[in-house]
Amino acid sequence: MCGIVAYIGKKEAFPILIKGLSRLEYRGYDSAGIALLDSGELNLYKKQGKVANLVEFTNGKNIHGNVGIGHTRWATHGEPNDVNAHPHYSMDKRIAVIHNGIIENYDTIREELIKRGYVFKSQTDTEALVHLIDDIQKTEKVELIEAVRHALQSVIGAYALVVISKDHPNQLIAARKSSPLVVGIGEDNSEFYLASDATPIVEYTNQVVYLNDEEIAVVDVNEGLRITNIANQEKTPYIQELELHLEALEKGGYEHFMMKEIFEQPRSIHDCFRGRLNAAEGFVQLGGLKDYEKRLLNAKRIVFVACGTSWHACQVAEYLIEDLARINVEVEYASEFRYRNPIISEKDVVIAVSQSGETADTLAALELAKARGASIFGICNVVGSSISRITDAGSYTHAGPEIGVASTKAFTAQVTVLTLLALRLAYKKETLSNSRFRSLLTELEAIPEKVKRVLDKNELIKEIAAHYKDSANALYLGRGSSFPVALEGALKLKEISYIHAEGYPAAEMKHGPIALIDEDMPVFVIATKGTSYEKVVSNIQEVKARKGKIIAIVTEGDTQVKEMADHVIEIPATDEHLVPLIATIPLQILSYHIALMRGCNVDQPRNLAKSVTVE
Ligand code: M6R
Repeated sequence: MCGIVAYIGKKEAFPILIKGLSRLEYRGYDSAGIALLDSGELNLYKKQGKVANLVEFTNGKNIHGNVGIGHTRWATHGEPNDVNAHPHYSMDKRIAVIHNGIIENYDTIREELIKRGYVFKSQTDTEALVHLIDDIQKTEKVELIEAVRHALQSVIGAYALVVISKDHPNQLIAARKSSPLVVGIGEDNSEFYLASDATPIVEYTNQVVYLNDEEIAVVDVNEGLRITNIANQEKTPYIQELELHLEALEKGGYEHFMMKEIFEQPRSIHDCFRGRLNAAEGFVQLGGLKDYEKRLLNAKRIVFVACGTSWHACQVAEYLIEDLARINVEVEYASEFRYRNPIISEKDVVIAVSQSGETADTLAALELAKARGASIFGICNVVGSSISRITDAGSYTHAGPEIGVASTKAFTAQVTVLTLLALRLAYKKETLSNSRFRSLLTELEAIPEKVKRVLDKNELIKEIAAHYKDSANALYLGRGSSFPVALEGALKLKEISYIHAEGYPAAEMKHGPIALIDEDMPVFVIATKGTSYEKVVSNIQEVKARKGKIIAIVTEGDTQVKEMADHVIEIPATDEHLVPLIATIPLQILSYHIALMRGCNVDQPRNLAKSVTVE
C-alpha cells in the first residue's frame, strides 16, 4: 500500500518520478505528490486523487531538478486530501519525507513534538516522522543520516521511506522495515533509483538491491550506495539482476490491465508449469522445494496462510492435497492466524501464498510460525518480494506482473503451482495409481488450450453480463473445489462492480441464504460434471422454484442444467480436480464486463490497493 519512488543523478527527475508513480499507482490512488530539489530550494507539489490530477496540477509549471521523491497514497491516517498527501515537509521546509507503512506510536511522538513547539498540518503518521528527524538533527546536532537512524530507533511500526534534504543535494536516504524498497543502480554508480518495487526502475537499469528490514541506504552521486542497519552496522549490498521486461508493464492493446491479464492466462499457466511438468515422462517437480521435500512429506500437517484471492487458491489446495496426497491441510486467514495463539510445532509446514509477497498479515503469520519452529515456505508471484526472502524455500508462480488490482492470472498461477505440489507429494507418497497420476499430468498440460477456448466466449459472456449489470446482489454456489471458485467469483464481482455478492457451498444455501432468493437474485452456479453434479442440479432446482435466475458454468455438451438455467456458459471437460483452473475464467470475464457496464474503474476499484502492506 502506497507507492514510493525517488531519483538522484544527472537526468531531470520530474518525468522519471511521474512515470514511476503511474507504474506504482496500483498500490494506492488516494493522492499523489512529489518533491524536487532545484537551485537550493526544496519544492513540493501534491494533489488529492490519481497521478493524472498531479500531472494536471503541475502542467505549465517550470519544474526542474536532478533529485526528487514521489509518492502515491493509500490513506491510513487522515482522509485523502491535498494536505494529507505525501511528501511531508519539516516546518522549515528543509527536509521532506515519503513513507509507506504505519508508524504505530505516531501519536506519542506527535504529542511530544507538539510540546516542543512543532505545528502539524496533516493528520498523517508520516508528518510525525519528518518532524522527529528534524528535531533530532537540531537538538543532537548530528548529520541527517544519524538523525534518520535515531528517529527509526524510536519508531514502532512499518516503513519504507525516503528522505530528501536541501542541505544534502547530492544524496537521498532510504530505509525499510516490513514494507518493500528496491534500489536501482544507474550509470557509473552515480545515478540511483529507489522504489517500492522494480516497475519504475526497469527501463533505466537492471541492477538492483532489495533492502532488508531495518536497513538504511544512502545513495550519493559522488560516493555511491552505502547500506547500514539501524544499529549502524555496515552491510554489503547484494546486487541482483532484474528479470522484468517493460512490455509486461504495459496494456499491450487492451483497454484495461484486468482484461489483458485475464487473456494472458493460457500463457501464464503454461509458464507456471514449464520445466516443472512433463506428462509424457511422468515427471512433476517444484525445483524450489526439492531440498525440503522430506519436511513436506513428513509434515504432521500443512497449514496455508494467505489473504483474499490467495486464500481462495489455498482452499482449492486443501481439496487437492488432502485427496491426492492424503496429507492433512488447514487453510487460515493470515490475519486471524497471527492473533489466535495457534498451535504450531516443528512438525508443521506453514506455506504462505501471496501474489505480491508483501501482504503484511501473511508476512506476520509466517514470522509467528517460524518462531514456533515450523518450516516456512512461500508461493509468490513477485520475484525478490519479502515473503520469498524470509521463507526457508518456495516456488514462484511466474505469472508476470499483475497490475490490475483484482487478481486474475495470479489466482490461476497459484492454483497451478499448488496442483503441481499436490501431484508431486502424491507421487512421492504413492497415494495415486500410476494411470491416475499420468492422466492428471496430461490433463494439467492441456489446461492452457482449454482456457483459450473459454476466452473465445468473451462476447457471449458480455451478453450475459448485460442482463445482470443492474443487480443489487448476487450469489455464487459451488461444491468441492468449485466452492472456492464460487468464493473467488463473488469476490471478483464485489470488488470491481460494488455489487454485493456472496459465495457459498451449494448445499449450505438451504441453511439461510435461500431466504434471499427472489426473481431479482442472480445465482451463479458452477455445475460441471463430477462427483457432486446431481446434488448441484438439485440445488439449481431449489433456486428455480423460488424464481431465482440461474447462470450456470457447465461442462461442454451438458443438457440437463441447460434446460433449467437462464444462461449457461460451457467450459471444456477436464479432471474434476482441475475444474477451478477453467471455471474461474468465465467468472472473471463476467465481473469485468458487469463492472465496465456500471461505469466502474476495473483496474483501480475504490478503496483498494494491490499490495496490502499494512494490517
Ligand atoms: O498479494 P497477495 O496475494 O498477498 O494479496 C492478497 C489479497 O490482498 C488479494 O488477493 C486481494 O484479495 C485481491 N484484490 C483480490 O482480487
